[in-house]
Amino acid sequence: MQWTEKYRPKYLKDVRGQNDAINKAKLFIESFNLGAISSSKRKKALLLHGPPGTGKTTLAYVLANEFNFEIFELNASDLRDRTRLKEILRPAIQQAPLKTEKKGKLILVDEADGITGADKGGINELLHLIDITPYPVVITANDIWSKKLAELRKKCEIAELKEIDYKVIREILFDILRKEGLFIDNKIVTEIAVKSKGDIRAAINDLQSLQYLSASKELDKRGVDSVEIHERNKENDIFNALRFIFKGKPTEETLKIFDSIDMPLDEIMLWVEENIPLEYKGEELAKAYDLLSKADIFKGRIYKQQYWRFLVYENILLSYGISASKSSSKAYWSGFTRYKKPSRILKIWLNNQRIAKKKSIAQKYARHVHIGEKRALKEFPIIKQIIISSPSIQQELKLTEDEIEYLKKH
Ligand SMILES: Nc1ncnc2c1ncn2[C@@H]1O[C@H](COP(=O)(O)OP(=O)(O)O)[C@@H](O)[C@H]1O
Ligand SMILES: [Mg+2]
Repeated sequence: MQWTEKYRPKYLKDVRGQNDAINKAKLFIESFNLGAISSSKRKKALLLHGPPGTGKTTLAYVLANEFNFEIFELNASDLRDRTRLKEILRPAIQQAPLKTEKKGKLILVDEADGITGADKGGINELLHLIDITPYPVVITANDIWSKKLAELRKKCEIAELKEIDYKVIREILFDILRKEGLFIDNKIVTEIAVKSKGDIRAAINDLQSLQYLSASKELDKRGVDSVEIHERNKENDIFNALRFIFKGKPTEETLKIFDSIDMPLDEIMLWVEENIPLEYKGEELAKAYDLLSKADIFKGRIYKQQYWRFLVYENILLSYGISASKSSSKAYWSGFTRYKKPSRILKIWLNNQRIAKKKSIAQKYARHVHIGEKRALKEFPIIKQIIISSPSIQQELKLTEDEIEYLKKH
């Protein structure tokens, strides 16, 4: 299970570092409830805005929970779909909550940035809905200062959620580790917190992937430390290779430089991409990026057509090509560059992890019902439903808890 979901705050007291926004939000709901008294001044919608991973969606759900409201969520495409709006959504927005124990309803429009696409229709619908619903509307958005949202801003109380200080994020990460009964070195936790740049979701996801990374290396049981060391060795290798490419003269040897590195070419590409701007400027930079995009195109073809021969080209572009894009006068560069680790790696790693689970489930299913694995993968959405709906099939297939969890989540 994703830790961001598992540890999503349920109560206002658990939403960290957002006191201003929380106070505004509380005031909004409370004065909404007293609406009859000064209905002329009362705003019927609350606009929560701020960078990703700072608690906008969370705050909306927490508010509903604390005030015992049912949440009714509308998304951007709902607002564009006229007939659906008329027949289903508008009535739902005006009717009392389904569950009688709920005291009211809260209409949530999450990620409203999505509405401001090409047409203005969606926004107009939203403005109209705010007028006709008897319930409070909460809207979240990253950026609210575009012109298209001017009308909406006028109709809303506005509360800003701020980037979270790394120290607060670090505390959140430590809390999670404590609850999971895990230990990760202080320094690493701090580094994750700092690198997340105020985005709690990113920080928690990084922490979890690091944890997976260590859990998946069950063979050597020394825990996260050894993973770190393994990672560090790999980093040394790639650093050396980058140095070779960026600083040296392109030669035969350059062509083979990546063969000795224990890292998939995809990942190497990320390292090259991340570090090109540290070494190349101006025309060299443009040239290097051009080659990189060519390598990326080859990659696309390789995957689409399973044409593995293209791998050679991808490799050559990345090594020799990038090396040769510096001007010859600078062929022997000196100086030390501290290369950076690409931040996307963790995400890609997590993604690969998911694909691996999907594959292993499809494999088990395919064997069980005697169909090909490819077909099982193709029909995965259906197979998924079949497996989810029947615990006995889950048992027969001998699915692991992780795999069952995966099916329920994706
Ligand atoms: N202020 C916060 N306090 C505690 N946890 C938070 C906070 N903000 C975000 N999180 C964590 O990050 C995850 C993503 O938050 P979310 O509210 O979805 O962010 P946003 O909607 O602003 O992009 C949540 O599930 C929760 O685990
Ligand atoms: Mg959100």
